[in-house]
Amino acid sequence: MGTRLFVTMELGPSGFALPRSHLDGSARKAAHGSLQSRDCSAYNRQMPRARYKNVVDRLAGDIRSARLAPGTKLPTHRELAADEGLALATASRVYAELAAMGLVSGETGRGTFVRETFLPPGTGMDQHAPALDLVDLNFNAPSLGGQDELLRRALRNLSSQGDLEALLRYQPHGGRRHERGAVARHLRRHGVPATSDRVLIVSGAQHGLAVTAIALLQPGDVVAIDALSYPGFKMVARAHSLELAPIPITSDGPDLGALARLCATRRVRAIYTMPTLHNPLGWVTTLEVRLQLVEIARAYGLHIIEDATYAFLAEGAPEPLAALAPELTVYVSTLSKSVATGLRFGFVAAPSVSVPLIERAIRATTWNTPALVTAIASEWLDDGTVARLEEKKRADARRRQSVAREVFEGIDVVGHPTSYILWIPLTGEARADRIAAELMHQNVSVSTAEPFATTQDIPHAVRVAVGSVDLDVLRAALCKVAQVVREHTVL
Ligand SMILES: Cc1ncc(COP(=O)(O)O)c(C=O)c1O
Repeated sequence: MGTRLFVTMELGPSGFALPRSHLDGSARKAAHGSLQSRDCSAYNRQMPRARYKNVVDRLAGDIRSARLAPGTKLPTHRELAADEGLALATASRVYAELAAMGLVSGETGRGTFVRETFLPPGTGMDQHAPALDLVDLNFNAPSLGGQDELLRRALRNLSSQGDLEALLRYQPHGGRRHERGAVARHLRRHGVPATSDRVLIVSGAQHGLAVTAIALLQPGDVVAIDALSYPGFKMVARAHSLELAPIPITSDGPDLGALARLCATRRVRAIYTMPTLHNPLGWVTTLEVRLQLVEIARAYGLHIIEDATYAFLAEGAPEPLAALAPELTVYVSTLSKSVATGLRFGFVAAPSVSVPLIERAIRATTWNTPALVTAIASEWLDDGTVARLEEKKRADARRRQSVAREVFEGIDVVGHPTSYILWIPLTGEARADRIAAELMHQNVSVSTAEPFATTQDIPHAVRVAVGSVDLDVLRAALCKVAQVVREHTVL
């Protein structure tokens, strides 16, 4: 499979000037004088423009105007150096600058290619306001028919209860005790030996990951992470200045030999991991792999951050890491996928010593998850609504996966049979950004591997989220994906 190096940089405005109306008379005179006294031509002469910059500008212009089409293979560094009369290192600098502008990608062993500039940067990472007719196979927001009625009923029930005044006040940072109790009971049903004093309610798993990082890690800390992983943790790492150390992937999960070697050579503080229903690869690691991971974590004193966002979809999975190593593991999960993404209800189960630290991080970020949401969600946890929705969504995901497998017959895909995610590794000369851009032209949005990759070499693959659109819309959109992938792949 081809790999590529992908660097993007946001370009800001080159400068600004005060409008004339903002200057009073004397200030205007002074400004005029200082402008007159500045000899711009002399200034330019003192700063001769490096000649290679002209090459950068010319190539950038050709790419932006599509004179050089996306996917075009550019001359090798050596050829560019010879063509333009540049030193080899300077030719490499030309490509580095174009890569930093997001215009080309250098791919190990394949060469330098013109990037697809039609795709908005951050596709798969940032949620862009989607066009009304865009079929979203980029983000998963699984919702079953009739969930709005559930919410209506819950609001009616809530409005008839006597304790509404309490919902108008600040709440304890990790949630009220009886709500934390409801979460702990839910977690115990999922094999996590949680008690209400070790559980904290947060505003979604993303918030759970952010407060865990704030509470337990310092800027500069090294965190081990799968070579392909959840983009939201990359964002947490960037925001908190953590260093991510990628662990290679095997068909059974993370390469634990590589993790052990990493820990032996670097001071690794934590591992971020998804043992049950990995996003994006859908794996469920075996008990043996989990025990090995715990052994390494114990040997090197790592915090384990276990993300179980999609875990409810995999029935019969081995015990969570939070059960195997409760003293090391912060277990983060959510009702986003089992109930609704807009709810923003997540939870963290942590070792006792970490609880006050995470509580303070919640205080620093949201103070508390909105009381109205926690009241409704904890009711749903206790009255069996969440368990029923989990079961229905397992069946829903299974149906969607089987539609996808049918449509993608003959194309190798990776994914769990009851997952809402499908990973399509590309072969031959197929380029993920070109495929994603072509699908975007056909109003179907998918993600490339870029947001998921924690390495510099990024595999060519497409990630499809099958949970957000109606089944018949999904089938039609998947047919478009399969067709474009087939057209781009030399089978
Ligand atoms: C693995 C993983 N973790 C965390 C999240 C964030 O979930 P939430 O919507 O609860 O913040 C997601 C969302 O897709 C996810 O896939």
